[in-house]
Amino acid sequence: MKKMVITAAMALVMGGAYVGVMPSIAVAQDSAAVIPELSEMARRGELAYTASCASCHGVNLAGTDKGPTFLHQVYVAGHHADMAFILAARRGVRAHHWRFGDMPPQPEISDDDLGAVITYIREIQAANGF
Ligand code: HEC
Repeated sequence: MKKMVITAAMALVMGGAYVGVMPSIAVAQDSAAVIPELSEMARRGELAYTASCASCHGVNLAGTDKGPTFLHQVYVAGHHADMAFILAARRGVRAHHWRFGDMPPQPEISDDDLGAVITYIREIQAANGF
């Protein structure tokens, strides 16, 4: 009997934990991306990313029909160093990896915000094994 009570209690706790995790999963529903607890810098980057990058690169880096996901081996730091992100935003990108077309320059984003965007992208990449 005691054992049953414990099992029921565990199911409750685990069920509760599962529900507690649901909101962040719901935000990520466009992709299977794991969204980690973001640092302050990354949270700032998320705002700038949403304003300047998400229309093509997608919510939670998932990509859209206008631009690639950053949750891809191609965009890990070893392949595309942080400098590549700065150059992409400043000069734009001529289509070369995919068939989405060219990326236009994004002059409205500040250098500071761009740095924060890179932090944001790296934290989500890391949480997803990239
Ligand atoms: C209008 C759509 C659009 C927007 C907005 C956009 N991008 Fe892109 N981006 C693209 C496309 C399309 C590519 C893929 C080009 C290719 O390699 O074929 C790309 C590629 C990139 C790359 C890879 C560059 C390389 O050297 O291969 C980086 C880094 C990047 N984008 C960063 C950003 C950042 C940061 C922002 C926001 C400040 C942003 N993009 C906003 C469309 C966009």
